Amino acid sequence: MATSPSPKKVLLPIVAGTEPIEASIPIDILRRAGANVTVASAGDALLVEIMYGVKILADELLVDCAAASYDLIVLPGGVPGAANLGGRATLEGIVRKHVEKGGLFAAICAAPPLALASWGLLDGHKATGHPWFVEKFPPKVTAVDANVVVDGNAVTGTGPATSMEFAMALVEQLYGKEKVEQIAKPMLVRYEGGYSMKELNSVEWHCSGTPKVLLPVANGIEEMEAIILVDALRRANADVVVASAEDGVVVTARYGTRIVADVMLDEAADRAPFDLIIVPGGMPGAKTLGGCEQLVALLKKQAEANRPYGAIGAATAHVLEPHGLLKVRAELPGTCSNPLTARRR
Ligand SMILES: *[C@@H]1O[C@H](CO)[C@@H](O)[C@H](O)[C@H]1NC(C)=O
Repeated sequence: MATSPSPKKVLLPIVAGTEPIEASIPIDILRRAGANVTVASAGDALLVEIMYGVKILADELLVDCAAASYDLIVLPGGVPGAANLGGRATLEGIVRKHVEKGGLFAAICAAPPLALASWGLLDGHKATGHPWFVEKFPPKVTAVDANVVVDGNAVTGTGPATSMEFAMALVEQLYGKEKVEQIAKPMLVRYEGGYSMKELNSVEWHCSGTPKVLLPVANGIEEMEAIILVDALRRANADVVVASAEDGVVVTARYGTRIVADVMLDEAADRAPFDLIIVPGGMPGAKTLGGCEQLVALLKKQAEANRPYGAIGAATAHVLEPHGLLKVRAELPGTCSNPLTARRR
């Protein structure tokens, strides 16, 4: 009559200016590990516009989380998100109480210096942060040049690209190494060296002016695959339209992140043509998108006009392949025979 233990509880506050990748990767990976992650708005509304115009509907307001206790509190970075978190007295109180009780706490990018260290909570610890901000560490913090630093109960990381390692380190602290391996394998995390990429069908990219990009979303898409694309493309100044294929603009991603689309897909269709249509994976989101006539029509027109389109994860098989939108012409030398599943070796 073993009763399953209640899930580990994680608090992840977000605020205006939070870095989308640094928030969504820990949310996703910690939920994959089985944690109960509360995404809490440190502002006064559940709807939070974080960096690059990404809109997230939080699960709770931070002020309503003050009485609860957590196994882990994680602070994402971002400019000015990290400083915004650092300036919130409510959050400082919650984190301080948690740390004093010996709780595991973590921050990435600008958040170790601008939030945790500014509250004195990294004093006596080794820590890392984004290189632009590490000089903000007070003298009592020992800055370490590493992607992720685990020192006692404090876990710190450097930035968007190392969010995956940072999140895996958090899983290891909460659940152990075996769980990390379980999660890393299907995610194709490159934790063994020697990965190489080769363009199978080389594409010439043409675009005059600001590239217009359509990124459709639906319930069950992989939040990281959507949010990393939006973040990276908007960093490159692309005009990215996040369009919902559901009945409303709020979609709930595979690991529960509630993403608020900019428009409904039919409104987006009026803005065609796009320089790029890119479809995130994740189930059942990819299946919904593959069954969305409007999106399929847009993709077919895109293909006919020889304009780029793409897909990641399950969207390759559920959106492109069934509609004849996938033409594989080459194979990686020395890989297994199906190029779709070819990875390495
Ligand atoms: C997760 O945490 C929330 C908020 O603390 C709580 O209301 C909910 O019941 C928890 N869910 C599970 C499955 O434990």
